[in-house]
Amino acid sequence: MGSQARISAGKAIVLGIESSCDETAVALVTSERVVLAERIASQEAEHAPYGGVVPEIAARAHAERLAPMIDAVLEDAGIGLEAVDAIAATAGPGLIGGVMVGLVSAKALAMASDTPLLAINHLEGHALSPRLADEALAFPYLLLLVSGGHCQILLVEGVGEYRRLATTIDDALGEAFDKTAKIMGLGYPGGPAVERLASKGDAVAVPLPRPLKGSREPHFSFAGLKSAVLRAYESGEHADADLAASFQRAAIDCLVDRLDHALERISTPPALVAAGGVAANLSVRRALEALAERRGMRFCAPPLKLCTDNAAMIAWAGCERLAKSGELFEGDPLDFRARPRWPLDPEAEAVRGAGVKA
Ligand SMILES: Nc1ncnc2c1ncn2[C@@H]1O[C@H](COP(=O)(O)OP(=O)(O)OP(=O)(O)O)[C@@H](O)[C@H]1O
Ligand SMILES: [Mg+2]
Repeated sequence: MGSQARISAGKAIVLGIESSCDETAVALVTSERVVLAERIASQEAEHAPYGGVVPEIAARAHAERLAPMIDAVLEDAGIGLEAVDAIAATAGPGLIGGVMVGLVSAKALAMASDTPLLAINHLEGHALSPRLADEALAFPYLLLLVSGGHCQILLVEGVGEYRRLATTIDDALGEAFDKTAKIMGLGYPGGPAVERLASKGDAVAVPLPRPLKGSREPHFSFAGLKSAVLRAYESGEHADADLAASFQRAAIDCLVDRLDHALERISTPPALVAAGGVAANLSVRRALEALAERRGMRFCAPPLKLCTDNAAMIAWAGCERLAKSGELFEGDPLDFRARPRWPLDPEAEAVRGAGVKA
């Protein structure tokens, strides 16, 4: 059993820990939406030689960095652990070694300080992150969750209430950005590099497929687009910038088409929201904003640094859960297990899909 929160959840301070992929991150966030302190250590340099995240290297790097980062964040905020009301850590989905490092650290801190543990679904962190930045964003909203491991459309009806309307049947879009970058030798991580190159290219220069566009089924598919990029690159007929721009345009067309498809089938919620690493892409944001305008919806996406992995969103998801559970919060059990897979909507029908990116 966890311990009970001792102060009103209305004024809680939550320590957040994120370690599910290649960012070690720690943050202190209040339930009044103030980020008291945050630190993030990227492992880009460690993984760059391999062109992607190596799980064993990631887990070791998290283990080395996490404890000093927790001390540093408390010091930055000028508070001690006794001022923290709950400790929130990503408990999945993600690379299991890294998730275990973060979760075990959180459990140890929770036990030593008699503070409740919050085992957070990393995807819930992304899904609620826009509400940290925007107090006016109320439930329900339609969420496009586009990251390195996921590409989903979800109806977010409340904290813990997620209805998945679509997912990818193969690759996540972030993965397709990363693969495109790898094919063109742009390095890792690929998304920002493809976006930069695309800004100099002609988006209609290279004919590329839009998988599942116009399809009756609701889902996404990006594997065929990725293969088409490889073939186009190997043909040697196109400038790299044109290929990057055409890839990005094709991907955005798919996102807009699938969101339109989802919106045809539900009563239109007031807001369209984007979250996850690919939501940091400015062309993606512009296209979604235009879609929202066309549909009479408000568009909302968090600031860029809240899109990619960070601990503020994990701490914030903890604040949201505390607020939902009222003044006395039990906390998650200290034997809560790290989960490599953890769907936000357990009722959603399984599709082949992308999961953990490695
Ligand atoms: N500006 C950008 N344009 C396109 N893609 C981007 C951009 N910035 C980041 N990305 C992509 O976002 C992904 C990283 O996002 P994020 O950190 O949310 O994913 P993850 O944590 O690896 O996966 P998940 O959250 O699904 O477990 C990478 O695939 C990266 O290439
Ligand atoms: Mg993520």
